[in-house]
Amino acid sequence: MSGLYSDDLIAVLEEIWGIGWLSPGGPAEVKNVLEGHDIKGKTVLDIGCGAGGVDLELVRTHGAAYVTGIDVEDGVLARARQHVTAAGLQERIGLIKVAPGPLPFPPETFDVVFSKDSIVHIPDKHALMAEVARVLKPGGLFLASDWLIGHDRAPSDAMKAYIAAEGLDFGMASPARYKAAIEAAGLTVLKIESRSAWYAEEARRELAEIESTAFAGRLGQIGAEFIAHNAEIWRKMIPVLETGEHCPTHLAARKP
Ligand SMILES: C[S@@+](CC[C@H](N)C(=O)[O-])C[C@H]1O[C@@H](n2cnc3c(N)ncnc32)[C@H](O)[C@@H]1O
Repeated sequence: MSGLYSDDLIAVLEEIWGIGWLSPGGPAEVKNVLEGHDIKGKTVLDIGCGAGGVDLELVRTHGAAYVTGIDVEDGVLARARQHVTAAGLQERIGLIKVAPGPLPFPPETFDVVFSKDSIVHIPDKHALMAEVARVLKPGGLFLASDWLIGHDRAPSDAMKAYIAAEGLDFGMASPARYKAAIEAAGLTVLKIESRSAWYAEEARRELAEIESTAFAGRLGQIGAEFIAHNAEIWRKMIPVLETGEHCPTHLAARKP
């Protein structure tokens, strides 16, 4: 796979969201996703680990015993390896390239399956949740943030324009589809909570940052055209966040 997350895109996203982060909110959002659950001393699978910021956070701040980060792209995994090595956490974080599809782990391997804004790339939510349920130990937790579409109708023109601008392989599904997939996998839903309002506000701040001359200055090696393209994505994203049609969401579920 040549990679949807090019080195330039990784650099732009890390400039917006912080070193190691390819999604919004950073440590505070991870804390929100974990709210009410203690992962200290637990084994964690992180689906779509990206550049590894999440994995460092799960170990350093939240005391996970061991995090296995999986991703389908070499570029993000190379970046994650740099960050994990720089932090000296190779003994606590393993990074594995996987192919899309079944998870390459035996049944009942992990205490927790975590994911931050990556399942959006996996179109078949039912197949994914069946795999999550299979690799979780009994009593284990699925704790995730993801980018959903707020409804099951055809996307509005504004939403179509946003998804096309992203150019990523977004396989967005509604909260109802996630709930059905989680329940069909035999897990108990604990939380499905929209973050649209929070992210609409964040995204307006992020857009102002992307449009600033300081931002372009810090990314000197990256062309103005690529930065302008990203600003255009944010301009298309903010209206659909404001209506809630683009619906970042926190999810929690337990395996009985
Ligand atoms: C928006 S990034 C989020 C990365 C990281 N979780 C974070 O919050 O910084 C989405 C990630 O999902 C990965 N991804 C896409 N399809 C995947 C799949 N089928 N299995 C695992 N990861 C996948 C992408 O390569 C990318 O690194």
